[in-house]
Amino acid sequence: MLYHENVSVIRNESLTNDIYDMRFRSRDISAAAKPGQFINVYCNDSSRLLPRPISICEVNGEEIRIVYRVAGKGTKELSGIRPGEKINVTGPAGNGYDVDMINQTYSSVMLFGGGVGIPPMVELSKRLKIKTDVFLGYRDCLFLNEDFCDDANIHIATEDGSAGTRGNVLDALKASGVDADLICACGPLPMLRAIKKYAEESGKKAYYSMEERMACGVGACLGCVCKTVEKDGHSKVNNTRVCADGPVFDASAIII
Ligand SMILES: Cc1cc2nc3c(=O)[nH]c(=O)nc-3n(C[C@H](O)[C@H](O)[C@H](O)COP(=O)(O)OP(=O)(O)OC[C@H]3O[C@@H](n4cnc5c(N)ncnc54)[C@H](O)[C@@H]3O)c2cc1C
Ligand code: FES
Repeated sequence: MLYHENVSVIRNESLTNDIYDMRFRSRDISAAAKPGQFINVYCNDSSRLLPRPISICEVNGEEIRIVYRVAGKGTKELSGIRPGEKINVTGPAGNGYDVDMINQTYSSVMLFGGGVGIPPMVELSKRLKIKTDVFLGYRDCLFLNEDFCDDANIHIATEDGSAGTRGNVLDALKASGVDADLICACGPLPMLRAIKKYAEESGKKAYYSMEERMACGVGACLGCVCKTVEKDGHSKVNNTRVCADGPVFDASAIII
């Protein structure tokens, strides 16, 4: 069920020079939200009609937390919203991770988050009951690294070597010597491709959360398709919609 609501922003503060932490309250969205799902956030400036998809970072009671990078005009506008101001949102959108299945099937998991692929991993780590190692990849400034579930082991990689392992999340994995049954990952395509190669070579099951460019955000325009291994039964093409059929996919089903 997708809810459309006009919500009051409770908080909207910068975590780094271009990363913002926004919170709003919605009883219905928070009750239905699963990790990996996202919120379509509408701009108040009517020249920007399309919603901006932002992952659910945390759900605390009725409060939803989203963490976003200022990437263009829409997110710039969002960064200027003050507590008490209202925005239109729809959510929870997309499919999310099947946490019950993961808890019942696997005994350990590695979560990989790169850049703005880190936020959805926070709520996922909170709901997992199995041994969890989290690998976080940053350019330089850290954010959210202290907000994961207390039981999760955190491993950091930075491109400039200012914290953790110098390099990417796979360099941090090598440095840690960690192994696990399952991989869940969200981040830029080059990171997902490298993790896919590692998962295939080591025979591990993997789920990826894709952050494809979107337009309508609700499955109507085909603006967000990604390639699939199998043909879609209805359209007979090797495509799937990230916004409606994803953003979380079984790695073996998609071509990246
Ligand atoms: C499922 C999903 C979850 C995401 N979660 C996060 C998150 O938690 N934090 C975060 O910082 N970013 C996230 N993104 C990326 C975020 O949606 C874009 O950075 C944002 O839409 C850019 O909007 P803009 O107006 O600032 O940029 P502009 O480039 O001006 O946007 C123009 C249009 O293109 C769309 N667009 C541009 N870049 C993207 C993109 N990467 N993905 C989808 N649509 C895009 C915009 O929504 C808008 O409609 C997510 C994307 C997806 C698909
Ligand atoms: S953005 Fe329109 S179908 Fe996905």
